[in-house]
Amino acid sequence: MAKDRKTVFFCQNCGYESAKWQGQCPGCREWNTFVEEPVVKSAGKRQSGGYHEQPRVTKLSQIETDPRSRVSTGYGELDRVLGGGIVRGSLVLVGGDPGIGKSTLLLQVCRNLSTAGEKVLYISGEESLQQIKMRAGRVGEFVGDMLLLCETNLDLVEEAIRREKPKIVVIDSIQTMYREEVSSAPGSVSQVREATNAFMQIAKGMEITVFLVGHVTKEGVVAGPRVLEHMVDTVLYFEGDRYAAYRLLRGVKNRFGSTNEIGVFEMRETGLTQVANPSEYMLSGKPEGASGSMVACAMEGTRPILVEVQALVCKTSFGIPRRTAVGADINRINLLMAVLEKRLGLSLGDCDAYVNIAGGIRMNEPALDLAIVLAVLSSKQDIPLGEKTIAFGEVGLSGEIRAVSMARQRVLEAKKLGFERCILPQVSLEGIPEIQGITLTGVRMVRDLQNVLRKA
Ligand code: TYD
Ligand code: MG
Repeated sequence: MAKDRKTVFFCQNCGYESAKWQGQCPGCREWNTFVEEPVVKSAGKRQSGGYHEQPRVTKLSQIETDPRSRVSTGYGELDRVLGGGIVRGSLVLVGGDPGIGKSTLLLQVCRNLSTAGEKVLYISGEESLQQIKMRAGRVGEFVGDMLLLCETNLDLVEEAIRREKPKIVVIDSIQTMYREEVSSAPGSVSQVREATNAFMQIAKGMEITVFLVGHVTKEGVVAGPRVLEHMVDTVLYFEGDRYAAYRLLRGVKNRFGSTNEIGVFEMRETGLTQVANPSEYMLSGKPEGASGSMVACAMEGTRPILVEVQALVCKTSFGIPRRTAVGADINRINLLMAVLEKRLGLSLGDCDAYVNIAGGIRMNEPALDLAIVLAVLSSKQDIPLGEKTIAFGEVGLSGEIRAVSMARQRVLEAKKLGFERCILPQVSLEGIPEIQGITLTGVRMVRDLQNVLRKA
């Protein structure tokens, strides 16, 4: 690094570092995210300069682990996303848009943990003690006594943690924490990195589980959680429509379990509650006898979830047809429409098409293809599909219906929710034994779907 340079530019979205300002970040391709920050003099006291003693290496077989070191959060949905409960000494990042319910979730987790006898310290840099107390009043009774601190100065926060020695610490939010020696503003990349580093030392050195709340911001004013994703053990994102009641907790990175798991919660007057059966929830309000609606079965991690795929195909009133997708990938929709045009000779060039995954959930699984294709066909020809029918399968460019994984689990989930017929790839069908109470229809090509549609 040049000696005379006093500042560097950071992308506030992904943390990309650059010597000069740039309009577009080469790292994440976002525009207007670079902000000038002073060069951080690495705090000398925390970095041991050179080894004083010989570094010790250890044999793998000699390391002991304690299987009881997992602690339940009191929420099965959250435990599953974490890989079976909280790991002692882990650093967990909970990201999400402002107002999605991160503080509420963590406060409820703190309540459960303190009721279970854990020593919990909740550090808020955003709300006053009174505000937290009011929120606590809404989410229910606190039996255990949890500790609270309203502070944003990192040195004081560290001191409080070292003095109180809690088992669980919640930092709400990481973007409000600042260290005085670092001269850039709170929320900047340098500050957020410094704070995360400090909490990592605390988590690993003192065997304390630290939850960090990170706001996702689009304006690039505050450094986003992506800047610290690589530093923490587990990254969870809390998503969902702010205005819809349910919330999805998605694991993006997990050093102690599988990612791809989701937890489903519902926001109520009295805080968040778990949704044990998401399929039922996602399908509530499904219209009866309407064309352009098809239920699909997608897998989220190890769990099948039924969702309703809706399509509306209508004559375009402008020159260029509109294609809109909500909850699904627009490119995928375009691809599937092209397959239908070519392989079925359907003329969709003068039609607008709107595809929606009901409930606001976002899904990118190829297994949804078949349901999307069926919904589009049904809407175009105005033929309602069977009420008690679901479909899953991937559609290839030649119009072939390809196999998808875990077909049996999907069929069983459909049966559990009272569906009587399942349209699936012929190849997948051959691997499934006869299942009582549900009719399985195998399809090989999209041209077979016309038949299916007529029978449905
Ligand atoms: P909050 O946890 O403050 O969001 P974040 O910390 O992610 O910014 O969530 C606040 C939202 O949740 C707010 O819009 C109100 C709503 N809410 C309820 O609907 N019920 C409740 O019991 C609580 C505590 C909040
Ligand atoms: Mg909050």
